[in-house]
Amino acid sequence: MSAREYSAEDLKLFEDIKNGKTFDKGDELPPLYRKMLINLLWMQGDSEYSGGLGYSPWIAKAPDMREKVLVAQIVKDEMRHASVIYRLLDDLGQDTQSHIAKTELDYKLEDDKAQIGFKRLKDDYRVNIFYYNIKYWTDFILFNFLMDRAAGHQLEDTLQSSYLPWKKGIEGIYKEEIMHLTHGDKWVKILAADEKEKPFLQERLNLWWPRVMNVFGNSKGQANDIYVRLGLKRRTNSEVRDAFLAEIHKLCDEVGLVIPEYKEADQAV
Ligand SMILES: [Fe+2]
Ligand SMILES: [Fe+2]
Repeated sequence: MSAREYSAEDLKLFEDIKNGKTFDKGDELPPLYRKMLINLLWMQGDSEYSGGLGYSPWIAKAPDMREKVLVAQIVKDEMRHASVIYRLLDDLGQDTQSHIAKTELDYKLEDDKAQIGFKRLKDDYRVNIFYYNIKYWTDFILFNFLMDRAAGHQLEDTLQSSYLPWKKGIEGIYKEEIMHLTHGDKWVKILAADEKEKPFLQERLNLWWPRVMNVFGNSKGQANDIYVRLGLKRRTNSEVRDAFLAEIHKLCDEVGLVIPEYKEADQAV
């Protein structure tokens, strides 16, 4: 991709943001800022909502009463996250109600082994991992262990966002994502310590691994650089991915799970 040409206004905006400029509810937003902010919010809102819908069957299917309560709590959290983000979008003049009504955010792939890379399947903005079906309790646990952790790392940047309503909303969301990943960590240890469960845990980790690595996007994508310049992200995709990887490697080493190889180049569709 050739380098994007920025206008003089864009360059002035980058400079102002670097020097601490922020935007609040009701402020007039520069066109580039508004466009990129709305992109990220749609991606998060649809992912939270679609994620909550994917988790919800597991209230009934969780192994015991205590776990049903915990899964119900997680589903409630994801729905609340979606509502917080959709409200921000509505405040920016987007119509989230009709979007939800006309898109199929509850759609999940039937093919359990499918790998869709970066290909879009429906007319929504969810991150691709939310197209896959959570088929087993082990998948639910891996979703907490991998995806809620990946989300936590991504949201960490938003704690310092230049868009103040988002920054404020993310504080509670971030804490709840930490609870979700802690649930994943607890159960990965339980399943990995069980000789009967461990091979299946490894098998499902192999299946989910490229899906979660794709969440960090294409490390060469230029959009990421703009997000950083606009103060909507702090780190590049590959920096966030490396922080996630360091944590996952340590945790998997502790319980004897092997992280599969991942090649970004193989994922482009
Ligand atoms: Fe969430
Ligand atoms: Fe979560």
